[in-house]
Amino acid sequence: MPRDAVAPDPIAARTTSDATTQALLERQRAVLLPVQNRMLYYGDRPLAVGRAKGDWLWDVEGRRYLDFFGGILTVSVGHANDEVVEATVRQMRTAGHTSTLYLNEVTIEVAEFLARVTPGRLQVSFFTNSGTEADETAVMAARTYTGHCDVVSLRHAYAGRSASMMAMTAHANWRQGGVYDGHIKQVRSPNLYRKPAGMSDEAYLDFLVDDLADFLATCTDGTIAAFMAEPIQGVGGFAVAPRDYFRRVEPLVREAGGVMIIDEVQTGWGRTGRHWCGIEHWGIEPDIMTFAKGIANGAPVGATIMTPEVAESVQALTLSTFGGNPVSMAQALATLRYIERHQLWANAAAQGARLRARLEAMAAPHAFVGDVRGMGLMQALELVVPGTQEPDPARANALTNAARDQGLLIGKGGRYGNVLRIAPMLNVTADLIDEGCGRLERALTAVA
Ligand SMILES: Cc1ncc(COP(=O)(O)O)c(C=O)c1O
Repeated sequence: MPRDAVAPDPIAARTTSDATTQALLERQRAVLLPVQNRMLYYGDRPLAVGRAKGDWLWDVEGRRYLDFFGGILTVSVGHANDEVVEATVRQMRTAGHTSTLYLNEVTIEVAEFLARVTPGRLQVSFFTNSGTEADETAVMAARTYTGHCDVVSLRHAYAGRSASMMAMTAHANWRQGGVYDGHIKQVRSPNLYRKPAGMSDEAYLDFLVDDLADFLATCTDGTIAAFMAEPIQGVGGFAVAPRDYFRRVEPLVREAGGVMIIDEVQTGWGRTGRHWCGIEHWGIEPDIMTFAKGIANGAPVGATIMTPEVAESVQALTLSTFGGNPVSMAQALATLRYIERHQLWANAAAQGARLRARLEAMAAPHAFVGDVRGMGLMQALELVVPGTQEPDPARANALTNAARDQGLLIGKGGRYGNVLRIAPMLNVTADLIDEGCGRLERALTAVA
């Protein structure tokens, strides 16, 4: 009998001893960086993955979970998606690695796909292995194109783990080593829930734009290479920029001689609903965009796409041995084709609306849910001390665990670690949204 058919009820299965998980934890403790143990399922009970298929994940103890986080918004079209698996195996049997010294049709096909579906005049791609490298490439290209050095990013941004991308990342706990790129600096990030008390949304937008103008006039020499931001800050807690934010920021950036870099590592490929890319909701055309995570359903792919003139400025030799590897490219192409054929941006809009309505309804009786926000299949609950806006990371942690007890995997994040992040697969069905929301509602009641 297939294992799916005998998957035990997740709650009943809690009584198991977790001996296999504990044994794996001991082995991991001996040989992997200690900080990885701190981050295991956000700090509490470790979860050792047995296998995963579609929207479901099984731990090694046999418990089944509905996965509403997809390996941090990375498994976009379901675990072990048959079409992606077949394309991967086919490519591995054809040519597994060749390096960028040779032409590979599949790599060119992915670049053609990106040029066709990304907004504006973005046409030329460079492939790497991670979001960090995609963002590094974007900054390098902005600097070669403009001849300027300073880059402005946002507080609460996350951009990766290289020295420069730790400088781009504006969370103290994600920075280490102390040697960063001193030309990357942050301005205030837009977060309507945490705007100054009593300020209207319009006044808040003016306040943010004034802060950027003042920053450019005082903390740079008046020129910048780029402004770089996520349309919805992922690690920052799914904070959605106000509707006119990027339209107001862009002229200031251009005036300072800079280009617009938009990081779509979390928001890309239909995640926010209606469009391929998140930034299309804001109606601006970036000069450079970056992708990773969901582009290849879990394969290590980073992509930086730019306008022809920005691309032309990159003249020094640059190479990524594994970037554009035919196997990862086959995975990216199969994932993108799957998204296109099933119009998953439309599914993300429809199921995202269903999820949002259910979240608002289940949050209403609980004063500890301060904010429900997000777009498409990227939704969040911010937990606070009732009657205040004081962050409540302890309850957020308890809720993550309570959701797990209900057989539901969700994520946690935000500046204060008090935001629950919910991001089902792009091909999730209405039935599974209802199933997941039922589980989450019971978890909310459990921590009330
Ligand atoms: C918005 C954003 N940019 C860049 C990165 C870095 O990606 P990677 O971990 O693949 O290097 C992340 C990772 O979480 C991210 O969320």
